[in-house]
Amino acid sequence: KTLPCVKGMGRLDGKVIVLSAAAQGIGQACAIEFAKEGATVIATDVNEEKLKELEQYSGIEIQALDVTQKGQIEKLAKEIEKIDILFNCAGFVHHGTILDCEEKDWDFTMNVNVRSMYLMIRAFLPKMLAQKSGNIINMSSVASSIKGVVNRCVYSTSKAAVIGLTKSVAADFIEHGIRCNCVCPGTVDTPSLRGRIRARPDPDQALSDFLARQKTGRMATAKEVAHLCVYLASDEVSGWLAFKLYTNYCAKCISNLHHDILYINTWKS
Ligand SMILES: NC(=O)c1ccc[n+]([C@@H]2O[C@H](COP(=O)([O-])OP(=O)(O)OC[C@H]3O[C@@H](n4cnc5c(N)ncnc54)[C@H](O)[C@@H]3O)[C@@H](O)[C@H]2O)c1
Repeated sequence: KTLPCVKGMGRLDGKVIVLSAAAQGIGQACAIEFAKEGATVIATDVNEEKLKELEQYSGIEIQALDVTQKGQIEKLAKEIEKIDILFNCAGFVHHGTILDCEEKDWDFTMNVNVRSMYLMIRAFLPKMLAQKSGNIINMSSVASSIKGVVNRCVYSTSKAAVIGLTKSVAADFIEHGIRCNCVCPGTVDTPSLRGRIRARPDPDQALSDFLARQKTGRMATAKEVAHLCVYLASDEVSGWLAFKLYTNYCAKCISNLHHDILYINTWKS
């Protein structure tokens, strides 16, 4: 008896994905997982050197892009013929309370974390509307409107804004075939997280503080977040679908008719 052949049937076959912050961490893991599932990935980052690590993977094209630069974004949007998925992953973590956050820190964070998404969506959405289909994924965080987290004042403010932006775009464009979701991870083991731990006065204490608040005793991996993003990028999700998603990491979904916010929350409370 001949069994049906599933070879070559990726979950993202034929899809074109534009991804920011792809040079390391969650963005890099997503670029690799998207390509493994058959997508053509336009992997962008401001760090062109580090981005070159992705050249070894088939299905990934690299492109330098600073997501705070409107001109660069508009140029890329003009060059790309078709886009199925826009994944806004770039983000920056400022450590501190409101009293530690100078105006320049506030402006820098809001610029990288929120204004960048505004610019990217404005540049790529018209193309999606012309196609009558599109899928936007924004990177938020549990440190947002979901949870109050110490020493994450402007970061949490910016990630709460990402949730608002996501809901707004979802509400305005779902009837035009566009869905817009955001992902809200807890603590994920990435190079920048390790850098923030090393920068603390007592790095060992900082690491055990991070671990102490994980239900599982360990941080999530970038690959685990990438698997959730593959699911969101795929046709397995419909913008109209209200669903609950549980993984061994207790990924929990809050949804209404127009949007889904997925978060992998490893934290105890
Ligand atoms: N690591 C975590 O614990 C965690 C948790 C929740 C949410 N997030 C979010 O996930 C996203 C990725 O986080 P990560 O820890 O993997 O990141 P990371 O800091 O390890 O990597 C970020 C990447 O963004 C790029 N980048 C920075 N500024 C840019 C700009 N102006 N234009 C283009 N690229 C730029 C950097 O070059 C880098 O490659 C961020 O939005 C972050 O806020 C991370």
